[in-house]
Amino acid sequence: MSSQHAIVPVPEEVGLLYDRLTAMDTEEVGGSLHLGYWESEDSDMPLTEAADLLTDMMADRLRLTAGARVIDVGCGLGQPAMRIAQRADVQVTGVSISRDQVARATKLAEVHGLSDRVEFQHADAMRLPFADNSFDAALAIESIFHMPDREQVFREIQRVLRPGGRLVLTDFFERAPIPADKKTAVDRCLRDFIMTLADPDDYLPMLRRAGLRCVEFLDITEQSVRPTFERMAQAGNEDLDPIFEEEADKKFSPADMVDVDEFGSLLLTARKPA
Ligand SMILES: C[S@@+](CC[C@H](N)C(=O)[O-])C[C@H]1O[C@@H](n2cnc3c(N)ncnc32)[C@H](O)[C@@H]1O
Repeated sequence: MSSQHAIVPVPEEVGLLYDRLTAMDTEEVGGSLHLGYWESEDSDMPLTEAADLLTDMMADRLRLTAGARVIDVGCGLGQPAMRIAQRADVQVTGVSISRDQVARATKLAEVHGLSDRVEFQHADAMRLPFADNSFDAALAIESIFHMPDREQVFREIQRVLRPGGRLVLTDFFERAPIPADKKTAVDRCLRDFIMTLADPDDYLPMLRRAGLRCVEFLDITEQSVRPTFERMAQAGNEDLDPIFEEEADKKFSPADMVDVDEFGSLLLTARKPA
């Protein structure tokens, strides 16, 4: 289904993209680098709070107990890891392909007095530098779509999870074939953020092949994608302009994405069999 979008992300290039994004002032997004979640259409919750709400919904699905070891695959600036470490009294190890993000997240953890609860390291999720069965739970918030092979990442997460451990992730998927008049907007988004849309028909078979079992598969597009793009469009995206190299009228534009209902977001909970 997604074969029309021919990009295969190269992890090193994704790392350099996030190094550039890290140089931006991210105060206004509250440190989270993911979409928000709004329970109702008329909610006026700001994006920063809605992003934290999505983190909390995901953390709840991990069913964490105090002292658990959690891996955050594609940890960004560490905001979700720090929030979860505090809320659930757990230890979180975040990995990112961006060296600048790891440095910034490490600094932020120091500033917030959380260095004993969270740690960040540079690593490629395609080859996680951890022993088998070393984590109780795994989180991947809007990161797997930047990786060249989802199934390989699932295999790696399955390997480092202990039996019975849970994985919770969000991912973008092609909800329906992208109509011709929306393809340019979608292709710009995928190209500028170096990502791919998952094929929903292959999602559960791919998980199974990697040794994971689906617990819950939720389509959160209406609560997440559209309201985030609407808010981004209202705010303007001048901050992003220097990040992407294309000419101004050929770059990703949130306003062009608002009505692309085919660009979906999924929230998945899976489990490594005991
Ligand atoms: C959209 S950001 C999400 C960050 C964070 N999960 C959050 O919600 O704030 C995507 C993250 O995935 C990371 N990432 C992308 N490809 C990766 C890879 N191959 N290995 C490790 N991290 C990767 C990026 O460095 C970045 O931290």
